[in-house]
Amino acid sequence: MKIFYEELLNWYYQNRRELPWREDPAPYHVWLSEIMLQQTRVEAAKGYYIRFLNSLPDIASLADSSEETCLKLWEGLGYYSRVRNLKRAAEEVMKSFGGNLPRTSAELRQLPGIGPYTSAAIASIAFGEKIPAVDGNLLRIFSRLAMYEENIRTPAALKKAVEYYTDLMPEESKNTQEENPCGSFNQALMDLGNAVCLPGTAPDCGNCPISEFCRIHMERPGSESDLPVIPAGKDKKEEHLTVFLIRSEDKTAVRKRPSRGLLAGLYEFPNTEGKLEPEEAVKWLREHSVEPLRIRRISDAEHIFTHKKWIMRGYEVITDPFCEGDIPFIMAAKEEIDDRYCIPSAFGAYLKWLLQEKRDALS
Ligand code: ADE
Repeated sequence: MKIFYEELLNWYYQNRRELPWREDPAPYHVWLSEIMLQQTRVEAAKGYYIRFLNSLPDIASLADSSEETCLKLWEGLGYYSRVRNLKRAAEEVMKSFGGNLPRTSAELRQLPGIGPYTSAAIASIAFGEKIPAVDGNLLRIFSRLAMYEENIRTPAALKKAVEYYTDLMPEESKNTQEENPCGSFNQALMDLGNAVCLPGTAPDCGNCPISEFCRIHMERPGSESDLPVIPAGKDKKEEHLTVFLIRSEDKTAVRKRPSRGLLAGLYEFPNTEGKLEPEEAVKWLREHSVEPLRIRRISDAEHIFTHKKWIMRGYEVITDPFCEGDIPFIMAAKEEIDDRYCIPSAFGAYLKWLLQEKRDALS
């Protein structure tokens, strides 16, 4: 009789992706990669991961680093609270655990930024614990394997998936030919979800090593893509913004965002709510002590957050040079913006425009 995890692990050993964090699954490496991968595609995370480790190679260096350094290394990944929590957790690990991450999912979950998924991923991949790390891939695969026909985005579905996989996982054994069967089990399902048990209409059941264990495949072949059941999402709230690239000589105005709320403490181009017409834009600028010599519309841009969407209208504003303290903004040269001020991706279209890369396309 075939055993689920044997079929899955054999497939994994032959088909697993080569990923930088798999080369040396040290606890810090697994932790960093899992935090990066929470909202970022694997391909996009690779370069960030390598750069982050080059700069902060271990937990001690992360704990000692400045927040600005961390934010700069995270620039473009979004969800900046993730890197702030990472640093806070590193400080906690230095203080309370002698610089080593705790080894169990229960202890890991006590650290800032480490929830049920991340604690299970680290505990299984770095320490071999028998615990399923249920992300979106594992939920989708579960819904098809178990023919789970309820809404998949609920705590009840997650609980069912954890129970289901726990029953199927190999034991936490050091005697098998593979050193870490539980960590491999989780990563095998992640890779299967990426290459075979794809979302939407695309599952490739002909190449699935566990199709014989899959209830929907066996009972209703051809209808695998009916699952999972995902309720239609609420429309995102739309917010209109007017963004100013205020330039004098080689400098451009930036400012620090408030220390609480969306994109807290990061830098931005000055902006205000609403879609301002040119006269309104000039009025806003004067209220902020900026006298435009020239003003022109540049491209619109959009950015989608988890719960809202920004629709941005851009203006380029040319002014005379300012003296320090004349305006409520920081005038920064392009190199400084590039090296020092972390400008989140929400303003990425305007940052690119400024750094010339896409000026033709956008203006
Ligand atoms: N997504 C999240 N964690 C992952 C991992 N360890 N391997 C591949 N994809 C992932």
